Amino acid sequence: MARKPFICGNWKMNTGIEEGIQLAEKISQTIIPSSVEAVIAPPFTHLYPVGKVINNSSLVLSAQNMSQDDFGAHTGEVAGEMLKELGVEYVILGHSERRAGGESNQAVSEKIRKALDLDLLPIVCVGEEESIKEAGKTEEFVLGQVDQALKGLSQEEVKKLIIAYEPIWAIGTGKTASAEDAQEMAKSIRQKIESLYPSVSEDIRILYGGSAKAANAASILEKEDVDGLLIGGASLKADEFITMIQIGADND
Ligand code: PGA
Repeated sequence: MARKPFICGNWKMNTGIEEGIQLAEKISQTIIPSSVEAVIAPPFTHLYPVGKVINNSSLVLSAQNMSQDDFGAHTGEVAGEMLKELGVEYVILGHSERRAGGESNQAVSEKIRKALDLDLLPIVCVGEEESIKEAGKTEEFVLGQVDQALKGLSQEEVKKLIIAYEPIWAIGTGKTASAEDAQEMAKSIRQKIESLYPSVSEDIRILYGGSAKAANAASILEKEDVDGLLIGGASLKADEFITMIQIGADND
């Protein structure tokens, strides 16, 4: 597979700063094979010290969100420029936990635009709620989110995106989508991108997220269209996350 496996730990609003530093230290001290891209997304408050700790390792820094606005009067927001200064390379955008708090497709699209303008690489999250799944409308819904996310982007820009398919009913619940379902959706997303940007769809990495852990990582990652994992809970345990990085490396 030409697409390099991508293993990203989304720490969400977890760990104290010292604890986060220790977690990052432990992960960055293991040898990360060059056949995998290993990324951690700590909370904003941790980015500076964690960035310093992982500076000489191949572990890469991501943020969990950013503002779509320029510097200015936006209380409580964090600008992409600030993230760049901290050595952040990726930014998770449109996570379902943020969409649940009112972040619209329009806002996600504006954030993607802003991130790309700053040379930050967006990890764009899409995924359906259980009621949508039960109504048999998963594909329509998820592809609609993808469509909105890609609006107005050039082929070269789309190539820089990472798409994470995260069924909401699987996030933090211990219920994982089957490897087959993850593959099915990843394939549909790739086909959707192909219909809009034919020459880049094979380059784009599509991740699965939702109760991914060491025990189910291999079966999901061996699927053709699944190129990596976005991991919440299991990324807070260094050994578990390191095992998942290794599994990713074995699936290149
Ligand atoms: P989870 O979270 O692995 O804890 O289910 C995944 C995510 O929300 O990115």
